[in-house]
Amino acid sequence: MLQGKKILLGVSGSIAAYKAAVLTRLLIKAGAEVKIVMTPAAKDFVTPLSLSTLSKNPVLVDLAENDSWANHVMLGRWADVMLVAPLSCNTLSKMATGLCDNLLMAVYLSATCPVVVAPAMDEDMWHHASTKANLKKIMSFGNIVIPVENGELASGLFGEGRMAEPENIVNWLGSFFLQKKELAGKKILVTAGPTFEPIDPVRFIGNHSSGKMGAAIAEELQKRGAEVTVVLGPSGIILNSGIKVINVKSAGEMFAACDAVFPETDIAIMSAAVADYTPVTTATEKIKKTEKALSVELTKTKDILKHLGAIKKPQQFLVGFALETNNEKEYAIGKLESKNADMIVLNSLNDAGAGFGHDTNKITIFDKKGNVFPFETKSKKEVAIDIVNTIIQQLHAKN
Ligand code: CTP
Repeated sequence: MLQGKKILLGVSGSIAAYKAAVLTRLLIKAGAEVKIVMTPAAKDFVTPLSLSTLSKNPVLVDLAENDSWANHVMLGRWADVMLVAPLSCNTLSKMATGLCDNLLMAVYLSATCPVVVAPAMDEDMWHHASTKANLKKIMSFGNIVIPVENGELASGLFGEGRMAEPENIVNWLGSFFLQKKELAGKKILVTAGPTFEPIDPVRFIGNHSSGKMGAAIAEELQKRGAEVTVVLGPSGIILNSGIKVINVKSAGEMFAACDAVFPETDIAIMSAAVADYTPVTTATEKIKKTEKALSVELTKTKDILKHLGAIKKPQQFLVGFALETNNEKEYAIGKLESKNADMIVLNSLNDAGAGFGHDTNKITIFDKKGNVFPFETKSKKEVAIDIVNTIIQQLHAKN
């Protein structure tokens, strides 16, 4: 049922931690690969030795062990899902506030995969207003909660708060992975980041694009089952494994890469901030500061979006971005037509929290039929979800 799935199990300090051993066994039996991170408190309820024996992998508890650093970033990127089971009240409150005082929390905060939690606590704790508020908060981050069960509790009382039985958690994960992937089988090209136009071997003309928006879109598309290729300008962004990355530097290189990939794609999303102009010539040696003034002659770069719009087949779907400071709506609609795009995502630099470098963005989407979809200021991850949802709606409307 979970053949080949990579599950990162986070065990926190609740009496239900003893069930982590059965859970690990069942996950392995279902075909999953399991790595385990425990909080120090969880060790009081189940031993790392039991869990490492059952998972066939070392169990990590501390940020550094035997003088070597546990790479929490890579663990979160390795997993298809991070499952925190049991989730104690204490770990829940840390997740809600981002308190990073142990390895499990560091992994949680750096995880790029979906995070699923199975809470376990006594009934009164479960019903406490702070527990409810914390659960609501982590759900607003996109975390998914496996409902607690009714039954005998560690206190001897009967009621709500029992961690879901390991069998039920495994079945829950099975259906989670089976969920319909709306973009399965679709090949999608995303451009992201800036381009650097070389003046000489050490200097270039660039821009402040971080590539974060394009990366968030690529990762959301991957979650929906698409086969994603990112043509990435110079940027420190690291994309999830499984996403194909073609690194480029200049607008010319980005053009060539997109031109090669586009014929095989179903959807192309041009979120890169491509330089509009590039130096006519690139000096082969570093330009010395001998002259009082220096002029660099620039020429227009090839417009990738326009080129793809011109060669686009009817079944292909093309999305462009527009970053404007004035007459936003008019320019965005103009670009839709002049570049033969199916959809334009407008960022207005007039909106607080939108544009380069921010972790948030505020967009308005324009489609060919004249529909306008305005969105609130949101995190770039949430904006990516809105963009991908709108593309899916547009594809449905087209077919
Ligand atoms: N774009 C592109 N190739 C270029 C320039 C831009 O593919 N050489 C794409 C961008 O990735 C974006 C869209 O075109 O999807 C809009 O870019 P924008 O910054 O608005 O620039 P222009 O279209 O060139 O328009 P203007 O400078 O007039 O605003």
